[in-house]
Amino acid sequence: MDMVRLALNFMQLRDAHTARHCVRVARIAALLAESLGICGPELDEIKIGGLLHDLGKIFISDDILLKPGKLTEREFAAIKSHCIKGYEAIKEFVNERIALMVLQHHEKIDGSGYPMGLQKDQIMLEARIMAVADVYDALRNDRPYRRGFSSQKALDIILDGSGSLFDEEVVGKLLESVEIIEQKIFGQELNKVVSHFNRELAPDTGEV
Ligand SMILES: [Fe+2]
Repeated sequence: MDMVRLALNFMQLRDAHTARHCVRVARIAALLAESLGICGPELDEIKIGGLLHDLGKIFISDDILLKPGKLTEREFAAIKSHCIKGYEAIKEFVNERIALMVLQHHEKIDGSGYPMGLQKDQIMLEARIMAVADVYDALRNDRPYRRGFSSQKALDIILDGSGSLFDEEVVGKLLESVEIIEQKIFGQELNKVVSHFNRELAPDTGEV
């Protein structure tokens, strides 16, 4: 855990936004994982994977990382390299599962993600959880080029990608857990949003 603190400290000094994002993603991913029945050492691994998932961004220059406008192809390729850079930075110091969460957190169910274009269960469950937590947090928060979305809009965007970009079961757990995520992490009541989305999702996800 000292290594994780050290890495977070590097991130905090290099890019405080990314460090705060990693802390929130770790918490959201842990809540989702718990609701999927993950506990004990596996849950701890997800917390560590969340804290480290964007570590590779410390190796990307500010003019690309903080660029407000549209990225060129070369700049986007540099951003995308953060998964491999983060993986390379930690693989000697954490177990393989945590390193793979970092490597795979931008993979998408339909194979459109990066860095490897993995599909469905080629992507480890923990990385599929991380992907949903990561995108939800990214959408909820301000970026240099846009304001953060409302929780309802963020859920709407993720729901749109359920089964194609994001794991359906994990998205279902996000909908179930969104009120507690908002209360614990974003500090808002979301009763109306939750009931709205539970109604929306019910036909597609059975029990959820
Ligand atoms: Fe990332």
